[in-house]
Amino acid sequence: MKQPKILVTGATGRTGRAVVDDLLAKGVPVRAVVRSRDARSAALERAGAETVVADMFDFDQLLVAMQGTRRAYYVPFYDPYMIQSAATFAAAAQEAKLEAVVSLGQWLASPVHPALTTRQTWLAQQVFSMMSGVAHVRVNPGYFADNSLRLIDYAAHLGVLPTITGDGKDAPPSNEDIARVVAAVLLDPDKHAGREYRPTGPALLSASDMAEILSRVLGRKVRRVDLPWWIFRKAARIGNVGEFLVSGLRYYAEDHKQGAFALGAPTNHVLEVTGRPAEDFETSVRRYATRPEAQRNFANWRRTFVGFIRTPIMIGYNPERLERELRFPKPPAPRLAMANDRWKLEHGAESGREQSSLTDHPSPPLQLSNKNLRIARTTSASSTMYT
Ligand SMILES: NC(=O)c1ccc[n+]([C@@H]2O[C@H](COP(=O)([O-])OP(=O)(O)OC[C@H]3O[C@@H](n4cnc5c(N)ncnc54)[C@H](OP(=O)(O)O)[C@@H]3O)[C@@H](O)[C@H]2O)c1
Repeated sequence: MKQPKILVTGATGRTGRAVVDDLLAKGVPVRAVVRSRDARSAALERAGAETVVADMFDFDQLLVAMQGTRRAYYVPFYDPYMIQSAATFAAAAQEAKLEAVVSLGQWLASPVHPALTTRQTWLAQQVFSMMSGVAHVRVNPGYFADNSLRLIDYAAHLGVLPTITGDGKDAPPSNEDIARVVAAVLLDPDKHAGREYRPTGPALLSASDMAEILSRVLGRKVRRVDLPWWIFRKAARIGNVGEFLVSGLRYYAEDHKQGAFALGAPTNHVLEVTGRPAEDFETSVRRYATRPEAQRNFANWRRTFVGFIRTPIMIGYNPERLERELRFPKPPAPRLAMANDRWKLEHGAESGREQSSLTDHPSPPLQLSNKNLRIARTTSASSTMYT
């Protein structure tokens, strides 16, 4: 059966590009949203996608981009005003009479999480669910395998896997598996309408487990190195990770250590939705090991080494200042996932105690320090949340 054309946003990014590739491989016509014409848009066209330049905040441009398409993948990019784009996209999808929107979200999504992105991701999915006449499916992965593997040059050249997640474990999904789930849903939206999927990898792994797998694939000893936050904020700036993303990462690192990504993982959603089992971490490592920056030569070693030794003297991101300057709204009692009884209940934590504590004894709220990553529990619990 001929498939209708599918609109893919974030098409130059991690999951968007992989969704484009998966759909094209299945012979499905794709229109890819790009911000500008450049080498990446040219690569999308060479791969067989049609491209359209559109700003995700612009209703008219989105409406034009949607003309002639029937279904869409929405990527909530890292931006303090992302919710504005999600609402604009929802309004345009309704006006364009799309059949279905698949939106990327987060496993941690909640209205009281301390990270603005995470609260907005929760809100964006509420907005998409309110669209009239447009089916909506949520894909809410946890910590991507890419978070550890985008630093493969450090493992390949210096034998280190920098990490901020301590002894936390997760079952990291590959970009490709997330994309396969998204694509499969887009090809049969009626079957999945209203559902939520959490693609994961097949096994729970710690950073030390990942270092072992990297050692095996790269053929050299790789050790996990725990980065203190003051170094991480500098390394992130050198790596151009983005200050807004880092404003959320400082909380995700704590969520990770507290077991939020291990909760309920691994799932069988990749197999259930795509008919193929989830890729293991080693498969992802083999893919990243083919990247130019992972090739063992003197120039790559020197670049990585110089980056490593100059990190402590560089200026780092200051996400606290960003939050102040943009006046991020804050919930009265922000909570990381594992301190949020409602989030735990909705995400499959099994405990009668947690159920009763929802109404009787709410967990104490977080106290967020503006100076650094001190996240402390206070004893004076507020009861204003979530009732
Ligand atoms: N990493 C994780 O562990 C993790 C876990 C769970 C959920 N997530 C969610 O994943 C999302 C990011 O997805 P991703 O990694 O696939 O994306 P990504 O690689 O960060 O790429 C974002 C895409 O959005 C595009 N974009 C940004 N601003 C735009 C604008 N104003 N108009 C048009 N396009 C715009 C970017 O274009 P340019 O390339 O031109 O900038 C890029 O193609 C985040 O919302 C995050 O919450 C991530």
